[in-house]
Amino acid sequence: MTGEENAPWPQRTITELQDGTNSIDIRAWDEVSPYIREGDIVVNTFPKSGTTWMLQLILQMINNGEETLFAPDNTLRHATSWIENMLIAPTDTVAKFKLTPPHHRRLIKSHLQLDALLFSPKIKYVCVFRDGRDVVMSLYNHCMSQTAEYRNATLKDAKLDDFTFFYENWLLHGNQPFWTDYFHHIQSWWKYANSCDNILLVNYNEMQRNLTHVILKLAKFLGIPVDEASVSFRQILHHTSFEYMKQHEDLFEPPLNVMKQGNFIHKGVKGRWRDVLSESQHRMYWDKIRQCWPPELIEF
Ligand code: A3P
Repeated sequence: MTGEENAPWPQRTITELQDGTNSIDIRAWDEVSPYIREGDIVVNTFPKSGTTWMLQLILQMINNGEETLFAPDNTLRHATSWIENMLIAPTDTVAKFKLTPPHHRRLIKSHLQLDALLFSPKIKYVCVFRDGRDVVMSLYNHCMSQTAEYRNATLKDAKLDDFTFFYENWLLHGNQPFWTDYFHHIQSWWKYANSCDNILLVNYNEMQRNLTHVILKLAKFLGIPVDEASVSFRQILHHTSFEYMKQHEDLFEPPLNVMKQGNFIHKGVKGRWRDVLSESQHRMYWDKIRQCWPPELIEF
């Protein structure tokens, strides 16, 4: 179902996003929406679920595996827009959207839950999900490897330095240090994915296990022609490999002046939580996730 009038998209519940520290001006959507074009792509994730990897993958597919992305001023950050930034500075975003040449396939990143997003049948939404226990490990490392100044501004509660506190806070309240709740985020997308043929769900583990399969699935969904036997296909695989992205970490965000080098494209593995979470912490997670994660997406 993609017709705007038939779209089952829920009413936006922006108040849920206002936790006193991050307030988003939803009116910005009304300014941006006239500039949405057929073929725009939104990559939506909960933070630390493989956002950058998916953005790089789709950009590589659009660019036939060429390294054009890496020309000066053409890093991943410049090649994509971040919806949350749009909402903070709508005028700049509208200007940016107006300036994009009409033949460009635009790539937009977002960490928003579905009910806070702009729905358009013209947009294809690619959502990457990752095991929450891997997400929280990654998130913790992300926060702890930021420079002190940035970390203090992000983590409002000093106790969050302690992993147990950080984990339980994330599990129970979900909104530190970002405004989205992991469990609500998953539910919001899963609920509508089956009835909207412009939403594609992708699992981080699936990308690790068989990236070729994911590329072919994306190619069909996004209408980007790829040839599995071609040199450019091999280039796409090369430019999205963990080793390559780690080596070129500075070309991806965030700016390294807020984060110590080597921590953004960090480990790229699953299951690190096994050595860290206690039995009871694990059980707390399991009890919660069972209520909102579709069985077919649970992969450990
Ligand atoms: P870890 O911190 O577990 O290593 P996001 O882009 O949403 O912030 O996600 C970051 C996570 O994706 C990090 O996980 C990072 O290492 C991982 N990642 C980035 N590029 C990757 C790649 N090519 N292959 C596997 N994992 C990757």
